[in-house]
Amino acid sequence: MSRVCVVGSGYVGTVVAAGLAAVGHDVVALESDDDKRSSLQAGDVPFYEPGLPDLLRAAVGSGRLRFTDSPADAMDSSDVVFLSVGTPSGENGRADLTALGAALASIGPELRHHHVFVTKSTVPIGTHGWVEIMLEQASNGGTAPLFAVVSNPEFLREGTAIGDFLYPDRVVLGSDDPAAMDAVERVYAPILEQAFDLPGSIAPRREDRWDGPTLLRTSLATAEMIKYAANAFLATKISFANEMAGICERVGADVTEVAVGIGLDQRIGGHFLNAGVGWGGSCFGKDVSALIATAKDFGFPTRMLDAVVDVNRAQRSVVVEKLQRHLHSLMGRRIALLGLAFKPGTDDLRDAPALEIGRRLAQLGARVHAHDPVVTAVPADTGISVFLDPFEAAASADAVVLVTEWDEYLDLDLDKLARVMRGHLLLDGRNALDRAAVAGAGLTYVGIGRPTAQPRTGAFSRGA
Ligand code: UDX
Repeated sequence: MSRVCVVGSGYVGTVVAAGLAAVGHDVVALESDDDKRSSLQAGDVPFYEPGLPDLLRAAVGSGRLRFTDSPADAMDSSDVVFLSVGTPSGENGRADLTALGAALASIGPELRHHHVFVTKSTVPIGTHGWVEIMLEQASNGGTAPLFAVVSNPEFLREGTAIGDFLYPDRVVLGSDDPAAMDAVERVYAPILEQAFDLPGSIAPRREDRWDGPTLLRTSLATAEMIKYAANAFLATKISFANEMAGICERVGADVTEVAVGIGLDQRIGGHFLNAGVGWGGSCFGKDVSALIATAKDFGFPTRMLDAVVDVNRAQRSVVVEKLQRHLHSLMGRRIALLGLAFKPGTDDLRDAPALEIGRRLAQLGARVHAHDPVVTAVPADTGISVFLDPFEAAASADAVVLVTEWDEYLDLDLDKLARVMRGHLLLDGRNALDRAAVAGAGLTYVGIGRPTAQPRTGAFSRGA
């Protein structure tokens, strides 16, 4: 059992704090926001993440997780400190380290014994040096070094964060201090050995054929680079799929079947090849921009990453152009968006494609209605009216656009949808709907990179 502090209780920090307590560590979470701290201490999570309320309540209830606003209390009660404060995109793509700097400035003076600081937040490559300087300046110095720094990038996906934390493909540790890495390896031991026993209501079912996490120990810069390269590669796969979608539309191919066909090659893999409105969220755009900015600092051109970002940005226009192709002027047209969150399983609207698509449609004079199973409000400047029922949102709509592929939309009553709409255009922005079922309801199906009608040459078979 280790004594752990987690600084910052956002999407990542709360999962790390509750997860480490659940697998047996003593965790104190340092959170300066009074409302957030008191709701978390009461077991209430102020954002949507499936399973996290149960995990949090179990951790707090076991007495192994508590929240504090006192840096002195947090430092006296811990030996390993996970830094998981937000590092949002700042000026021209660079990560904004203001919150991280403030946290280090408040913690430094309270160091009275050696701590290992673990940067969990996604920080620009080379930031570890800055973390050490900040801590040196803030702490009272003295003879023995009061801290060491380890990079431990997070690979949690919103919506599946608990499973990603408990069953990671890999745990990456970067440091030039082997003893510090040993201390963090001990914190991860229950996860590396899968030596925890949590009820199914708390720990999501582990995927089959999963042979456990791999521990990777490397240098600080390499660990930070692994994080950025991973997200940049995933974003590249998506933009590649979206560029193939554009070609498929012109040659009459189906990009969803192309994705299956190439994904069956083990060297490519089928994940993250879903064409559609492209990526959103708080990570891909931020991390790719930060990587581009870092390369620019060294005068290195990022031709591929620049194109990856351009393709993604253009995908949101694809939806608008398709609506114009079918409806011509959008002035006065009523368009209903199904799905607002940047992906299913979250309430996160950061860089959500739906908001940008809604803004553009409203600028073209359309009346934009929307529904989302979890998001019930959007910023006023989007011009989007949110409804609590998908059929109310679609009432008298000239077109409906599926933007986020929530499960509840995949088996939506299409006959009822057709009845409440004024028009009959259903634009599948995630290629997630059954084309034949849409046509069967008398609606016109339009996908991204897909022919409109089911090809006559039989269904695409996945084989045995
Ligand atoms: C991502 C990384 O997956 C995770 O490892 C990292 O720690 C944080 O960033 P997240 O941003 O939560 O996680 O979402 P993710 O599931 O990766 O999806 C990102 C975006 O890509 C979403 O908007 C999703 O709709 C989109 N996407 C995903 C596609 O457009 N096509 C795909 O095939 C997959």
